[in-house]
Amino acid sequence: MYTEKVMDHFSNPRNVGEIENASGVGTVGNAKCGDIMRMYLDIDETGVIQDVKFKTFGCGAAVATSSMATELVKGKTVEEALKITNKSVMEALDGLPPVKVHCSLLAEEAIHAALWDYAEKNNIKIEGLEKPK
Ligand code: FES
Ligand code: FES
Repeated sequence: MYTEKVMDHFSNPRNVGEIENASGVGTVGNAKCGDIMRMYLDIDETGVIQDVKFKTFGCGAAVATSSMATELVKGKTVEEALKITNKSVMEALDGLPPVKVHCSLLAEEAIHAALWDYAEKNNIKIEGLEKPK
């Protein structure tokens, strides 16, 4: 049912943890199942994401997609990170079973929520970023 990459990121998730005094923190919940994800971003003065950590209280697919999402945002600019969608995360994992697609939304939403927090803290506007619900 799960691809090798999903199993790998589930059993050995990358970048699990917290960042103290993170530039931006985003916490999102999945309305469909109640699972929760928190993403921490460390962004330098040039707008590059230097570090990222996450915590997910959720199913295996949520853990795997968070893990892959952190790998995708690391080293990216804020603008590039904004372009990462749940689709790109799923593609990077070689796909998810249809019933697990909603799990991948958490990762995208958590990135956006953390970026929003960063923008608010620094009083900047990130083009194309919408306020998280
Ligand atoms: Fe049980 Fe997501 S609802 S793991
Ligand atoms: Fe809800 Fe996976 S079952 S996030």
